[in-house]
Amino acid sequence: MNYRRLGRSGLKVSELSFGSWVTYGNQLGAETAIECMAAAYAAGVNFFDNAEVYAKGASETIMGEALAKLGWRRSSYIVSTKFYWGLHDGPNEKNTLNRKYLRGAIDASLARLGLEYVDLVFCHRPDPDTPIEETVWAMHDMVAQGKALYWGTSEWSAAEIVRAWEIAERLHLHKPVMEQPQYNLLHRKRVEKEYAPLYEDVGLGLTTWSPLASGLLSGKYRNGVPAGSRGALETYAFLREGLTDPAKNRLVGDLAGVASELGCTLAQLALAWCLLNRNVSTVITGATRVEQIAENMKALDVAAKLTPEVVTAIDAIVGPHAA
Ligand SMILES: NC(=O)c1ccc[n+]([C@@H]2O[C@H](COP(=O)([O-])OP(=O)(O)OC[C@H]3O[C@@H](n4cnc5c(N)ncnc54)[C@H](OP(=O)(O)O)[C@@H]3O)[C@@H](O)[C@H]2O)c1
Repeated sequence: MNYRRLGRSGLKVSELSFGSWVTYGNQLGAETAIECMAAAYAAGVNFFDNAEVYAKGASETIMGEALAKLGWRRSSYIVSTKFYWGLHDGPNEKNTLNRKYLRGAIDASLARLGLEYVDLVFCHRPDPDTPIEETVWAMHDMVAQGKALYWGTSEWSAAEIVRAWEIAERLHLHKPVMEQPQYNLLHRKRVEKEYAPLYEDVGLGLTTWSPLASGLLSGKYRNGVPAGSRGALETYAFLREGLTDPAKNRLVGDLAGVASELGCTLAQLALAWCLLNRNVSTVITGATRVEQIAENMKALDVAAKLTPEVVTAIDAIVGPHAA
């Protein structure tokens, strides 16, 4: 495993990390979560991504149970959570980044995780109803109180990130350090174009999500929806149209040729491609079983095989079609 700095911060994150969206609480209970986290950690993964809203809090509870059983040194791993959607229906309990919600949300997340602090905390989406200055203060307070070590954003526009950063700079508050955007072979413009000035200007780090586009880029949806896959989950039926999209699956079929020439799987090719972007601090992977983790971790070796010629061949296939 290699480790990269999280943007301009001093924190080092493993190039591949492991997250719990969809999986924990919906597809995996504590036992399989422990197996998967142990396999990832053994491979050198030091960052485990989570969010308040995942499985309505159950994902944090499961990760907390797993961490307690695994008993790793606290200094050896990084845990995150994210806030915005909330767990309750009140006007100050959902779809907000106001001070009142954030103050309560961090304490409840820490209780579910069984931790004294999270390493990373994200504003899970922008909130047009709360002044950014109020959110910046609330996130600063979380860090100042030792409940989180670094704060950042997820799917904020470049302009919103810069505004938050400038407010923190002007008021001498803890600044946003990282952003968590979607990044994969079919979804690249925000990371490659919109955020381009921010890597130098504000030292932005990236923890990127859905490197396999929810499994599409593994090739498993080329002939329909396999039983037991994410695409088969009724509660996530909204993903199915994209996963079974014939045009996208044709591109995946074309990528299969590149993967077989390199002697790797499609999933490994897709993950390795994300690693080539040096502005990405860590690629957050997802898995429902240990075998997927074993396969996905080998993407680190595949990255070395992605020569400029191979990247050009990949770009010729997906470049014109990526969002
Ligand atoms: N900030 C945000 O808004 C946001 C949004 C989404 C995700 N995230 C974070 O990013 C993490 C990763 O996202 P993701 O889970 O969508 O990642 P992904 O890599 O796009 O999809 C992971 C899923 O693909 C399937 N898969 C994984 N490896 C495979 C392999 N080798 N072969 C075949 N299928 C494989 C598994 O699902 P099945 O086995 O069920 O098919 C797995 O759960 C999340 O856990 C979460 O922490 C953040």
